[in-house]
Amino acid sequence: MTTSKVKSKPIWRRKRSWFLLLLIAVYGLLLSNRGTRILMQTAANHPKSQAATPVLSPTDLSDWENIQTKKLKELFQTHIYGDFPLEMTLRAEEMSRLPGTYFDNSATVDIANLTLINTENEKTRSFGLVIIRPIESEARIPIIVSQNFCPNHNVVPINGVPKPQNITFDCSGDGMMSNVFLYFFGRHITTPPIKDIMQRGYAFAAVYPTEFVPDSAQAGQLILNDYFDNFEVSERPGALMAWAAQFSLLSDYLETKLGFSKSIVYGHSRFGKTALIAAAFNPEIDGVIAHQSGTGGASLSRDKPGETVSDITNGYPHWFGNRYQNYALSQKELPVDQHQLLALIAPRPILLGNARRDVWSDPNGGFRAAQGVNPVYQLYGNSGLTAKKLSDFNPEDKISFWIRPGTHGVVKEDWPAFLDFLDAQLK
Ligand code: GCU
Repeated sequence: MTTSKVKSKPIWRRKRSWFLLLLIAVYGLLLSNRGTRILMQTAANHPKSQAATPVLSPTDLSDWENIQTKKLKELFQTHIYGDFPLEMTLRAEEMSRLPGTYFDNSATVDIANLTLINTENEKTRSFGLVIIRPIESEARIPIIVSQNFCPNHNVVPINGVPKPQNITFDCSGDGMMSNVFLYFFGRHITTPPIKDIMQRGYAFAAVYPTEFVPDSAQAGQLILNDYFDNFEVSERPGALMAWAAQFSLLSDYLETKLGFSKSIVYGHSRFGKTALIAAAFNPEIDGVIAHQSGTGGASLSRDKPGETVSDITNGYPHWFGNRYQNYALSQKELPVDQHQLLALIAPRPILLGNARRDVWSDPNGGFRAAQGVNPVYQLYGNSGLTAKKLSDFNPEDKISFWIRPGTHGVVKEDWPAFLDFLDAQLK
């Protein structure tokens, strides 16, 4: 009997070995990147790490409203956002109703052009506004005021909503980029479920803040420098503060001039930050939905996983006032933390939206911030946040915390939660 010995190839000559090696190298490369490592994490369901500091313990309403809140506003302006620009007004250029009804006959649509005027130096910037209201609604209903990532004609995708002038960015179309955008950031990153909003009895106002201040480090900073040239560099508002001022003036306009009963500011991520800042600086805003607002929004800066002050000031230097970057390497030294921003909104309702795998925004730090504000809500005779863990969604809480599985973006589960919160708070 003859035996033929099959000589096996040395390991380094086998294709499979090289493929395995390549996989290990790619995996190693990905893990060596901090951003990717964070992307692979999941937020713990129980508040982890230290409670918000400094601990808020106000005992006297008059001291809180007249002294403490003023001090806090000073700190936020000086160290984080730049000054809240008080010398601004809003002028409505023209308003017209598009003929017919929309969104399965659930709504009418008005369009307007508005101008923000810096009354100190007479500089102006214009932007478009779209207002959608439920047909047959009562005259005075609440309005959700939304700052968006996409231009108005994408947010309200019907004929007649104008494209912004001089802006080429567009989220519409069947192109690969817009599909990738929707795939990663969810079906409602571009446009909310307008018909559902109408059916629950809310009006909806859309603006594209980039028309006022471009969201780019260079072009944005140039506009800020020019439009706010009446401010010292160290006090000049950053883009978040400027957009918050736009939110604030627009909310006042919708209530006082157009007769809406209440204004709720809504934004995702960077515009979740601006919604919180606007409500903190304008007591007339009636409530906030801040979805995944993260660093510089609802998440605590001290002891923060995910995005650091250094990350955000490197990536988006135009968003903040001039001094925030000084804390890039020492964020523990910040003399104020984000639970104190939420405290400036108390006792009004706040919904903080989150996703388990969005550790970049740090849901856990947002939860601890919300817990840290309870003493201020209690000062007003309210229990604030009653949730004990991140997954306890109690829409009737004045500080309500919503978390779902998944990542950064606005997905189909989010809007029903937002609307349940509004129903519980306003109806
Ligand atoms: C970046 C940024 C965040 C911001 C987010 C967004 O991820 O780091 O701070 O919230 O963009 O606005 O989508």
